[in-house]
Amino acid sequence: PTGLLSDQLARPLHDLRISVTDRCNFRCVYCMPKEVFDKDYQYLPHTSLLSFEEITRLAKTFIAHGVEKIRLTGGEPLLRKNIERLIAMLAELKTVHGKPLDLTLTTNASLLARKAQSLKDAGLQRITVSLDALDNTVFQRMNDVDFSVDDVLHGIDVAHQVGLGPIKINMVVKAGMNDQEILPMARHFKHTPYILRFIEYMDVGASNGWKMDEVIPSAEVVSRIHAEMPLEALSANYTGETAARWRYADGAGEIGVISSVSHAFCRDCTRARLSTEGKLYTCLFASSGHDLRALLRDGRSDAEIGTVLAHLWRARGDRYSELRTNNTDGLQAGATKVEMSYIGG
Ligand code: GTP
Ligand code: 5AD
Ligand code: SF4
Ligand code: SF4
Repeated sequence: PTGLLSDQLARPLHDLRISVTDRCNFRCVYCMPKEVFDKDYQYLPHTSLLSFEEITRLAKTFIAHGVEKIRLTGGEPLLRKNIERLIAMLAELKTVHGKPLDLTLTTNASLLARKAQSLKDAGLQRITVSLDALDNTVFQRMNDVDFSVDDVLHGIDVAHQVGLGPIKINMVVKAGMNDQEILPMARHFKHTPYILRFIEYMDVGASNGWKMDEVIPSAEVVSRIHAEMPLEALSANYTGETAARWRYADGAGEIGVISSVSHAFCRDCTRARLSTEGKLYTCLFASSGHDLRALLRDGRSDAEIGTVLAHLWRARGDRYSELRTNNTDGLQAGATKVEMSYIGG
């Protein structure tokens, strides 16, 4: 038995994803479209955010209940002031088996070249970088910013040089927007140490206007690449891995595909999410979370918070993506799902 807790579908608690800010300096069309996230958008006030001390206290409680991997997300986590201080605090924690945590972070790389060394020094092990195109025009249309692809690529190289790795590159594929970039991206990252992963565009949040016909199924992504650069399937690194892994037959590296729409992976989902203001979500598609910040600020003990956490995990029955598989627009209609920038990708 790996986890100490088990939910309604016998899934252990293994990963914790912590959103450290709901702000981002990009406006990706699939995540924070600028029509919704405009200059009048109300972000959380500073007092609502969990402090680093509060995050670390909760992290310890999650770790005591089986968490072995922590991913910092956002928004853009590198926008949170002094994020290195939080990383240093988390890097000291040990799993119940006495091992160091798998501590990682997802970033758009806008501040990466500048911060890579200090992140590494603080104890961060690895990172995942979002990059949706190699062509600047497509990249800027997808992310609605003035940032250039070269700056992202430079950030990745600096991170690699300082020893933040293995580095993964995440590309969300949206039909008609950036799918022509699938092959250029694959060619570019072949023969590099970076693992490129193609992500199916998901119906997360309530503002991206998701439609099923804008999703390119991973099988299609794999067959387009395979036609030019032959691929062989690899087995998963661990149970519940989001990506299906493939390697180039000529030994030139590895790619992954994340098929949350065409092949939901809820059955092995071991991920808990902590929002920027300290609510626990047991699914990316949940419409409400449980307020752990209130417990902290009410002066509850770690043991009391642990009891609440255990209760919530044991009651968990979420499997949104599997349910959506059979109902491609019905689930989207009624529910008010929280935004990914708030809950953390
Ligand atoms: P590794 O630890 O490097 O294997 O990372 P990961 O597989 O946890 O992947 P990452 O955090 O980079 O997530 C990649 C993408 O997969 C996210 O940005 C989401 O689009 C999607 N994803 C991650 N977790 C979930 C999940 O629990 N449910 C769904 N539906 N999608 C997810
Ligand atoms: N569909 C798929 N992935 C998404 N992300 C954000 N919004 C979506 C969406 N609608 C993920 C991407 C991005 C990370 C920050 O969040 O992986 O790289
Ligand atoms: Fe920002 Fe990442 Fe969302 Fe893009 S996907 S808007 S970079 S948080
Ligand atoms: Fe986990 Fe919910 Fe994603 Fe399914 S949809 S994999 S239960 S977060």
